[in-house]
Amino acid sequence: RQHVTLATLNKINAKGEKFACLTAYDALYARLLNDAGVEVILVGDSLGMVLQGHDNTLPVTMTDMIYHVECVKRGNSRSFIMADMPFMSYSSETETLENAAALMRAGAEMVKLEGGAWLASSTRLLAERGIPVCVHMGLTPQSINLFGGYLVQGRNPEQAEKMVEEALQLQEAGASILLLECVPASLARRITEALNIPVIGIGAGPDTTGQVLVLQDILGISPIKPKFVKNFLAESDNGIAGAIKRYADDVKQGHFPAPEHCFD
Ligand code: KIV
Ligand code: NA
Repeated sequence: RQHVTLATLNKINAKGEKFACLTAYDALYARLLNDAGVEVILVGDSLGMVLQGHDNTLPVTMTDMIYHVECVKRGNSRSFIMADMPFMSYSSETETLENAAALMRAGAEMVKLEGGAWLASSTRLLAERGIPVCVHMGLTPQSINLFGGYLVQGRNPEQAEKMVEEALQLQEAGASILLLECVPASLARRITEALNIPVIGIGAGPDTTGQVLVLQDILGISPIKPKFVKNFLAESDNGIAGAIKRYADDVKQGHFPAPEHCFD
């Protein structure tokens, strides 16, 4: 298998096929994801909760993200590495450019920012300078204090309409991927059909081109278990490597997510 690039992901999207994404924060797990054929490795700021024990992702710093991207890069050889820009690391143009550049130097091949249409200018700024951007919409955990909880987004018709509109604006601004977290399956399907770029979902139903989950969640070792998570270790006949392979295969064959993992 060749190194996965944006071109690979666009080809999968154009063919109506699926790709798999999982989080990893270190070289050991990055190698397992790489070997299982997981197309995209996300170095997520979820590491603030999973590794650091924080209640949310807000305390994660650029120093933390650079360290973990460097670790993941060393364990990987073929997967496409996406890195989260942490809370408040993209609040001005200068910070956005410098921090995205730091993640790319550390080994990221794409950066992810949380927000909506207001990110159009940052997206354009980065894309024009050669940095691919994924915009994370729907439930954006860096805004947890504004939301007041980890709640499904886009359930009322005006909210849904606004999300479709903003997704189109971000594609227009040069976003290469859109990620939707905790939105009704029907809305994720609508957005996926409206866009040309690949859409990755988490708690967003079966119809997005890619699926992502937090690795520790599919191994059943996280203290919380959201509805959209499945424990793949429970049915693995080859331990952790088998669980990761099963997740990747189930996503690509359209077996995951099942209706019980989706919101309506
Ligand atoms: O930080 C993370 O792991 C994420 C995914 C849950 C999408 O942003
Ligand atoms: Na994140």
